[in-house]
Amino acid sequence: MKTLSLKVLTAMPSTVRFTSPSNIALVKYWGKFGRQFPMNPSISMTLNNCYTDCAITYSEVSENNAGVNSFEFEGEQNEKFKARIEKFLSSIKDKMPMLNSLSLDIKTSNSFPHSAGIASSASAMSALCMCLAAIAENTGTKYASELSRLASGSACRSVFPHYAIWGESKDFDSTNYFAVPYADFNESFSSVHDAICIVSSAEKEVSSSVGHDLMNDHPFIEARIDQANDNLKKILAAMKIGDWKSFGLILENEALTLHALMMTSNPSFILLKGRSLEIIEAIRKFRNDTDLPIYFTIDAGPNIHILYPDSIKLEAVMFLEEKIKPLCENGKIIHDTIGLGPVKK
Ligand code: PMV
Repeated sequence: MKTLSLKVLTAMPSTVRFTSPSNIALVKYWGKFGRQFPMNPSISMTLNNCYTDCAITYSEVSENNAGVNSFEFEGEQNEKFKARIEKFLSSIKDKMPMLNSLSLDIKTSNSFPHSAGIASSASAMSALCMCLAAIAENTGTKYASELSRLASGSACRSVFPHYAIWGESKDFDSTNYFAVPYADFNESFSSVHDAICIVSSAEKEVSSSVGHDLMNDHPFIEARIDQANDNLKKILAAMKIGDWKSFGLILENEALTLHALMMTSNPSFILLKGRSLEIIEAIRKFRNDTDLPIYFTIDAGPNIHILYPDSIKLEAVMFLEEKIKPLCENGKIIHDTIGLGPVKK
């Protein structure tokens, strides 16, 4: 009798749903090896307003019928995403054997426009993996972070509030397998703003995975690994004591290094646009003129993230409206802030 009622329960479809945010790297992950392990440690800030909402309805089926039954993105069936997720799920069956007997109907949507030029894989994959971890009844963030890493490296940092570190480092107790939260920061780093200035919403010409691969034979690889370790150590020290100036200089050094590595890969590629450089110049001029702590970072694309503490919000917003907005595509700036990570719905 007991067995029978259990069977009925597992055969009934259930639904799990999570939102999970994007993150912006402060020290960048660039280059990987083996099963999606990073060549160097990285630290990111979890965002708040840019997130993916993912719901998975699942039921137990025979092995022949297991897999992704449907994949809906923004209310429409999406075969391209479905194929990508199916491939990913097949690749993690060793980490989640119950996938061999589950049928999944997945629905996702983003809080930000699809073609806003914002990397959506971190939010999309972490939201998906938070759902998978809940289905596996393994609700510790370590497992969700590890699954996310296997889906898209940087996604493993999105499952934590505030800041997360991923990758073995000489100075912090972190690992290549999953990210860990970083909480030893000064009060002024608890309410950071990130104004995402959209220079181009077009799909980028070179994918991150191509860029990562080009690091394998990069002439500067050894120097880069040393630099990233050094920058991580310095940025943590700056965040601990609230030293925005040192923090900002490392932030900008990391952003420009990332793009310099792309420009010096073989073959080389350039993702920055003229407007990206104009925005960088405007930020540096404003900083020189006002001495306010406002700094930029850049992802693998042309858009510029402008970070500043809550204490200068008024001045920063005025500057953004007046000087930066006219340099953005259709005047688009997404005002985001530091966030608390995934939310169960
Ligand atoms: O997670 P991926 O494979 O999309 O790589 C992301 C790499 C950067 O965004 C450029 C840096 C980072 O650490 O997030």
